[in-house]
Amino acid sequence: MSISPSKVSTPRTQISGFVRARAPGRINLIGEHVDYQGGVVMPAAINRYVKAAAQANGRSEVRLSSSQSHGDLVVPLEHKTPFSGDKSWANYAFGVVAKYRDAGHPVTGFDVKFESNLPLGAGLSSSAALETATALVVEGMLGLELPQAERALLCQRAEHEWAGVPCGIMDQLAVNAGVAGHALKIDCSTLEIAPAPLPANLSAVVVDSKVKHALADGEYAKRRADCEAAAAFFDVEFLRDVTAGELDSAQIQLGERVYRRARHVISEMARVGEFAAALEAGDTAAAGLLMAASHSSLRDDYEVSCQELDTLVEIAGGLGAIGARMMGGGFGGSTVNLVETSAASRFAEDIVARYREETGAEVEALAVNLVGGASIENVE
Ligand code: GLA
Repeated sequence: MSISPSKVSTPRTQISGFVRARAPGRINLIGEHVDYQGGVVMPAAINRYVKAAAQANGRSEVRLSSSQSHGDLVVPLEHKTPFSGDKSWANYAFGVVAKYRDAGHPVTGFDVKFESNLPLGAGLSSSAALETATALVVEGMLGLELPQAERALLCQRAEHEWAGVPCGIMDQLAVNAGVAGHALKIDCSTLEIAPAPLPANLSAVVVDSKVKHALADGEYAKRRADCEAAAAFFDVEFLRDVTAGELDSAQIQLGERVYRRARHVISEMARVGEFAAALEAGDTAAAGLLMAASHSSLRDDYEVSCQELDTLVEIAGGLGAIGARMMGGGFGGSTVNLVETSAASRFAEDIVARYREETGAEVEALAVNLVGGASIENVE
């Protein structure tokens, strides 16, 4: 099955004053730092959520509150500038409201409260989940249902313009389009999505290193800029259109850093196709080796890993994981581990204990289920 992005918005049956929505986090099995170069990625939505409950307030302002922040925020609907400091979380929520208004949707005032059991800054896309939960309550109140790809693009624009993070489209699409029991093969140049079942004997375990990353600190943007410089050298929009051989022959002209960044992207794109084929063929050993190669490439060529993630990946190998690698933007956050389902909870316990023994530090491990995408829960 392949889902093409549809262009038509569907009116929901009811326009309402009260809406609840929830949006899951995501893991990514493979395809890291390739979405903004038109690559294919393999994320999956997981059973950890941001939930939003919203109520029309009859005023021309949005009142935001979150169980994870201090104090409510009252924002006039026409507010135009990003928030900073301890209000910056609101960029992911109000930024989405602003993007719906910019797109011509007649959003009126509402109060919204967010709750979440999705750890923040853990590389599990809490940002995309917050954006999408906001998008759904806005749509619910307007009696509107945008196509998933259009909603994802609006959320991505909010993240670019309000949060200042030049992210790709993987997270927003995964959060919106998740399919229970499946990863999603997303072609980030066409936004086509093909769900790929995760065999029942395999499970994903996320290990949160507790090292907080800040994608907005500029490293993510620098990686993107290096890729864009390489693509410009080859006169293509995306590195997906450059072969490994072409890249190698331009090593001197590109310079060592840009060459290695592009080598990660091009090699990772090849690994995604091989990984999907290995999973389909039930060749778990091959899938595991590809995850290991992905991690090494992110560590050595892309330089987005850190000591804690490297240690977690090493320990996972010793504990019998089929595959393990860092996940998401990097510089902290989580690893994703593919394990036999029968061993998943044992693995989760063991990796926490072994990491503590080796480093004295605490991590959190979570066996996750792959779930459906974001949804409106009820409308009154
Ligand atoms: C972050 C971004 C995504 C993607 C990943 C790396 O999660 O939001 O768009 O680039 O990093 O794969």
